[in-house]
Amino acid sequence: MSSLMHRRQFLATSGLAAASLLGGLGPWRQARAEPLALTIQNARYALEATPTEGMVSLSPDAPPPVLRLSRGQPFRAEVLNTLDAYTSMHWHGLRLPNVMDGVPYLTQVPLGQGDRYSYEFTPQDAGTFWYHPHCTTMEQMAKGLTGLLIVEDERDPRFDLDLPVNLRDWRLGEDSQFIDLYTARGAARNGTFGTLMTANWTSEPVYDVPAGGLVRLRLAATDTTRVYRLQMPGAEGRVIAFDGHPVIDPVLWPGPEAPLVLGCGQRVDLAIRAPGQEGAELVLQNDQPGGPRVLLRLRAVGADLGHDLGDLAPLAANPLPEPDLADAEVLEFVFGWSPSDAPVNDGFCGSLGYTFWSINRVAWPGDASGTGPLAELRLGRTYILRLRNESPNDHPIHLHGMVFKPLRSNRREVSGNWVDTAMLLAEETMEVALVADNPGDWAFHCHVIEHQKTGLTAYLRVT
Ligand code: C2O
Ligand code: CU
Ligand code: CU
Repeated sequence: MSSLMHRRQFLATSGLAAASLLGGLGPWRQARAEPLALTIQNARYALEATPTEGMVSLSPDAPPPVLRLSRGQPFRAEVLNTLDAYTSMHWHGLRLPNVMDGVPYLTQVPLGQGDRYSYEFTPQDAGTFWYHPHCTTMEQMAKGLTGLLIVEDERDPRFDLDLPVNLRDWRLGEDSQFIDLYTARGAARNGTFGTLMTANWTSEPVYDVPAGGLVRLRLAATDTTRVYRLQMPGAEGRVIAFDGHPVIDPVLWPGPEAPLVLGCGQRVDLAIRAPGQEGAELVLQNDQPGGPRVLLRLRAVGADLGHDLGDLAPLAANPLPEPDLADAEVLEFVFGWSPSDAPVNDGFCGSLGYTFWSINRVAWPGDASGTGPLAELRLGRTYILRLRNESPNDHPIHLHGMVFKPLRSNRREVSGNWVDTAMLLAEETMEVALVADNPGDWAFHCHVIEHQKTGLTAYLRVT
């Protein structure tokens, strides 16, 4: 084992220190009155023994930091692009003004090299969110630019440890350098999978947790392709939030019989009571062909704190608009192959060079194409979106700017928790309800980035 591995192992196992070292320097907060400076830049980092070159992050040698915001407090970030490619920053899951949403041409012009954009918004919801570019998305996300954004609330229950976890994969060759980030074969099916699975840019980290203590594990699936099937066997815990919002319809604990499906872009917060016995471990794993794959371990350290999950206060509700189902209009959306004559996505924000997918039989021709909205929604009205997947592939369908509640599916029992992404399984039709309470043009797309970039994109207009 190289000394570098030793150092990383050490950081990963030094518990609380590791939790705050996730961005290399601990969580980033905006200092009073000063905007937070976020510089999109190339980075180099040892995901394996040999450092990987040409990564994309917000530091030259560390993962994108965990950003910590406060509910109800204005947040300002000045994003500077130093890359020789266009970019923009999107704040996934946050309900914010349209002009801050970071979608090229829909809400802003893309940032060229040397350009800056000031993002300014006041988060109204507490919870676990994330950020990523929305231009040249395939390449910049695959190379690293996906980070967690946590909105704290003074009403949050007290945990002994708060542990954000960025789950994602990498496509690396033998020499630990990037190989092709996408393939035509993958884009036309379930996407092109990575070769290395990581949690917080580390393969199978071990985190120290206080024995008998209460841990909030904030899991974000930020991979471009992978839909996780999470399991945490033998743990004493509860699912407390989904896509950032407190669970209102109980979700089964993710065990071997009922893995928790977390689609690309989704988050889940788990409240766990660490084992009371020093040295005992809990494992978070992904259920996948060939058997479960370990993502991370939690190891109990110290004397048993003897804390009890039952003592945890529930999360405070976010101010979400309740759909009025008695007065709802139904909108139909079908997700499937693209018509054979569909144009290839324009290249402004990175074209993959082919088109495979469509919404309502129209393949997205590109961000700068001037294409109109897929549907126009009236401000304040309730809509039921009937989402029909006519393909044999899974599609995590994401909407910007608003959140919705699943109502029913033709394939399974769905839980009625607020989400920003509908995890549509193969051939599934799901109905979800929302109140169109946020004016603007809101991107609506599959979060398997190869699908998004090869046609499975559109936008909804709320006026
Ligand atoms: Cu994470 Cu357009 O989304
Ligand atoms: Cu989003
Ligand atoms: Cu898809």
